[in-house]
Amino acid sequence: MKKVIEYIQENHDRYIGELNEFLRIPSVSTDPEHHEAVKTAAEFVAKQLQEAGMTTVEIFPTEGHPIVYAERLVEAAKPTLLVYGHYDVQPVDPIELWESAPFEPTIRNGELYARGAADDKGQVFIHFKSAEAFLNTGRQLPVNIKYLIEGEEEIGSPHLDPFIETHQDLLKADVAMVSDTAMFAHGVPSICYGLRGLTYFQLDLQGAHTDLHSGSFGGTVVNPAFELSKILTAMKDEAGRITIPHFYDDVRELTERERAEFARLPFDESTYKQAIGLKELSGEEGCTPLERLWVRPTFEINGLESGFTGKGAKTVLPAKAMAKVSMRLVPDQDPDKIADLFEDYVHALTPSSVHLETTRMHGGKPWVASLDHPALKAATQAIKKGFGKEPVFQREGGSIPVVATFAELLNIPSVLMGIGLPDENAHAPNEKLNLDNFYAGIKSSAYFLDELSRSGL
Ligand code: BES
Ligand code: ZN
Repeated sequence: MKKVIEYIQENHDRYIGELNEFLRIPSVSTDPEHHEAVKTAAEFVAKQLQEAGMTTVEIFPTEGHPIVYAERLVEAAKPTLLVYGHYDVQPVDPIELWESAPFEPTIRNGELYARGAADDKGQVFIHFKSAEAFLNTGRQLPVNIKYLIEGEEEIGSPHLDPFIETHQDLLKADVAMVSDTAMFAHGVPSICYGLRGLTYFQLDLQGAHTDLHSGSFGGTVVNPAFELSKILTAMKDEAGRITIPHFYDDVRELTERERAEFARLPFDESTYKQAIGLKELSGEEGCTPLERLWVRPTFEINGLESGFTGKGAKTVLPAKAMAKVSMRLVPDQDPDKIADLFEDYVHALTPSSVHLETTRMHGGKPWVASLDHPALKAATQAIKKGFGKEPVFQREGGSIPVVATFAELLNIPSVLMGIGLPDENAHAPNEKLNLDNFYAGIKSSAYFLDELSRSGL
């Protein structure tokens, strides 16, 4: 391993150059105007994997954005690792809040600023470079490796599950590696063993045919903005619990062991509040902040639109009101079942004076891993060597839907070795990647391949 690690250290500058090239591609998957750029990013990934020494590299078109697959199989008796990541990114707005342009990567104070730096281009890139380091120093890979890199994660991976379903043989592996999460804190590397799921809706309320003068009609006419507010307000009670009937039926209670482990993590409430500019936290009564983030479901309003929102004042009764809402789900809640419960409830709450239309958007299943898989031990050793520190085990509030698919369709566990940070500004202006973590991540990835080959899998 010495030569491999030395090689990684000697190539830091080249890595930054290549990652910058990746980050300059505006691969915003949700925006049709960036369609070509998303394709260019897929081609960049394919080229990287080719240059890293993969023997097969293929770009699979889908009805949406392409899936990049690559492999290098060294020995049937060795374990097979499936590396997953995504090359698509979130939109950049509000653009005016970026201190440097989102697609012009810039280093300031040891942080690389760009859209996708942490989520997920910089993270997936560490696994390209670890394999390359073995192969460019005259070694064979310690394990068989496969890569599955998609371009639709940020829009709910609509074409990934069908692809996995129809390519189970191709994707056959012993374990998946995913770097798309954050470390617990700076200097506290972590392995994530749980993710929340998601179900997402758009609600449209329609009252009168058209907007009306609020003087001429006000008092006799339903106001959809008001009705929508009432519906949304009814979704939670005073204690912060969601009121959808049977919503909590399948929520797995936290074990005493996990509760004690969460309490041992170095979480400081006042630092957390300060970092996001809040005087107080809110949420479900009787749960700690980490419990509310990781093992309790939520109901959120992601967006609201109705009536007059321009400058000045306009006396108008809006004909329509719209909300985007979503629920983060926890084991063992099922997104489809929750979506049905929500739809029934929201219809029951809607007065007959307005017309309601619900549209289901994307979703994903929650996931939690068992902690005693040999691959997690291999990852623990790898992080210890790569970061010089023992990782903590944590869960995450976000979602990576494919992880549950790997468990269900491919029957494999996933190791979530994220090298981001809680203040990385993912999905927000000034997204950044800490370069020390990036380099330690490449080393950890290389150590992981080595540890995995000796894990007994
Ligand atoms: N990298 C994130 C997942 C994540 C979020 C990990 C927060 C750790 C903390 C991923 O790219 C993401 O944003 N996923 C979406 C999935 C959704 C579109 C189904 C999410 O969580 O909103
Ligand atoms: Zn991501």
